[in-house]
Amino acid sequence: MTESRNSNTYPPTAEFAAQANVTAADYEAAAEDRLGFWADKARSLVDWKTPFTETLDWSNPPFARWFGDGQLNVAANCLDRHVEAGNGDRVAIHFEGEPGDSRSITYAELTTEVKKAANALASLGVSQGDRVAIYMPMIPETVIAMLACARLGAAHSVVFGGFSADALHSRILDAEARVVITADGGYRRGKPSSLKPAVDAALAKGDTPVDHVVVVERTGEDVAWVEGRDKKWADVVGQQSEEHEAEAFDAENPLFVLYTSGTTGKPKGILHTSGGYLTQSTYSVFATFDLKPETDVFWCTADVGWVTGHTYIVYGPLSAGATQVIYEGTPDTPDKGRWWSIVEKYGVSILYTAPTAIRTCMKWGDDIPAQYDLSSLRLLGSVGEPINPEAWTWYRRVIGGDRCPVIDTWWQTETGAHMIAPMPGLVPTKPGSSQRALPGISVKIFDDEGQSLGNDQPGLLVIDEPWPAMLRGVYGDPERYKDTYWSRFDGIYFAGDGARFDEDGDIWFLGRVDDVMNVSGHRLSTAEIESSLVAHDAVAEAAVVGAADETSGQAVYAFVILRAEVEETDDMEEKLRAHVGSDIGPIAKPKRIHIVDELPKTRSGKIVRRLLKDLAENKGVGDSSTLADASVMDLISQQVSSS
Ligand code: WTA
Repeated sequence: MTESRNSNTYPPTAEFAAQANVTAADYEAAAEDRLGFWADKARSLVDWKTPFTETLDWSNPPFARWFGDGQLNVAANCLDRHVEAGNGDRVAIHFEGEPGDSRSITYAELTTEVKKAANALASLGVSQGDRVAIYMPMIPETVIAMLACARLGAAHSVVFGGFSADALHSRILDAEARVVITADGGYRRGKPSSLKPAVDAALAKGDTPVDHVVVVERTGEDVAWVEGRDKKWADVVGQQSEEHEAEAFDAENPLFVLYTSGTTGKPKGILHTSGGYLTQSTYSVFATFDLKPETDVFWCTADVGWVTGHTYIVYGPLSAGATQVIYEGTPDTPDKGRWWSIVEKYGVSILYTAPTAIRTCMKWGDDIPAQYDLSSLRLLGSVGEPINPEAWTWYRRVIGGDRCPVIDTWWQTETGAHMIAPMPGLVPTKPGSSQRALPGISVKIFDDEGQSLGNDQPGLLVIDEPWPAMLRGVYGDPERYKDTYWSRFDGIYFAGDGARFDEDGDIWFLGRVDDVMNVSGHRLSTAEIESSLVAHDAVAEAAVVGAADETSGQAVYAFVILRAEVEETDDMEEKLRAHVGSDIGPIAKPKRIHIVDELPKTRSGKIVRRLLKDLAENKGVGDSSTLADASVMDLISQQVSSS
């Protein structure tokens, strides 16, 4: 989707430029003294109980320590300090439920709720060093639960509510979570959608260290109850004291583990810690979004189950003292104008969403947003996948009224916070390009041999200096951390993305160079879906590819060979799709599963996915000369077109 170019650039208005938070001086300061720049940001944007004296310890790469001898409480930075500064009456969260219920929660109220929730978790035995699994809809209690963990120095592991019981089980086991916080369900497309049954099923699989399940009542639907283990949020949190002293923890105390798909079967638990993560998250909210906490209303449409929700719903905006909107449901419930009615209702000034959502709205037509007053918007952000210039210009023109800068932000679960984005008000924006690294961030584009490439040469994006919000490891697996990210080029972080600099030195992303797919901005691994398919009794072999898709960026296509004794039935494709759905989650269900007799393999038996991708993209049969048997592709192609 990135091939179409558009050389138009959009300079910022003089008015925007004059008030922009980031100036050329930030770039100059960071270029002169990168560590000094980050130390300065850490001191000015974060409250430390014990000031740090060392900015970065990189004596044992790739294991970094940022602000290592400092101590802080992340939750107190997101809450108490704003109340103490006299901003307790400022709205922290405007919550909009899908059925239309709404609640506005001030910083003072949120602080009290988090203190009570921290007391509740402490009463269940949660303390520093523990892990708590969170499996929730998009409601304020989710944010409260995360901050309550942070307040106690315990790490949360949020599992996206769209993941299955099996996926939840493996994540609970891997993180060794002792407590699960969930809800009876949430609302999805006008109906209650349950969550608690998946927790029950996950825990019924056994072997988990979980001894408490705390359940928020959101939908009021009946749920099964395990006496002794299950507790209502209203009961355990409701009765707690509103006093809770926030203890200071080390800057490197774990803040969260978040699982993400990689190139091999098992998802990786990405570990983030406190001081560096909070520094860069907070800085990026001011820099990339040009946030003015007194006047802006910020809305990030992501789910808290992904890193975008962690950094740009919970930690970044709250640490920055922002007022934000949290919406529970989907953009088309009850109608396709829902998002724009929310922008109008709350006067949203900064909107942050994903290209797939922008393309969907574009398909629905200009007349839908035209029915709403969107004049409060002043900045539009994009994240999750390359944004094609057509969607970019539509976003700017139709949603942004041709006045708002469109800021395409590149980053990853692993990077913790924004890494590449045009700084608003400082540079002219360019449709389809993420443009340049943030001040204090150093990236390069390498060829396969690790030579740094110049303009107009596609290569591999690397980050060649450590950064504050960088992942500190893969939970419980230091070797995997080193192998996955730091071994392709010795001592240099390999992101897995292809990219090029254009003639102006602006960065264009070219998609993943590994077997990670990007479907609607969600990362999925081909290997993980393949292993799910072959785990089904009927399947002998499977190959999965991500093929270009107009709306979702990529879509999952699977090619499977059935076991010899299995008869192909009409409902086989549907059965296998349902199997992947229950094994991983609905988001991983292939769009199509083609049942074939052969898979294209090299002489050494490696599946050539590129050929299957061409087929799924209707590009015909590509160069099959590397195959052990070149005629295989014709056979597969016939089977695909007749299925
Ligand atoms: C892709 C999401 C192009 C990229 C924050 C990256 C992007 C992966 C962009 C991380 C963008 C994210 N332009 N590609 N603006 N943003 N990506 O961990 O392939 O869910 O490696 O983090 O998404 O996905 P993750």
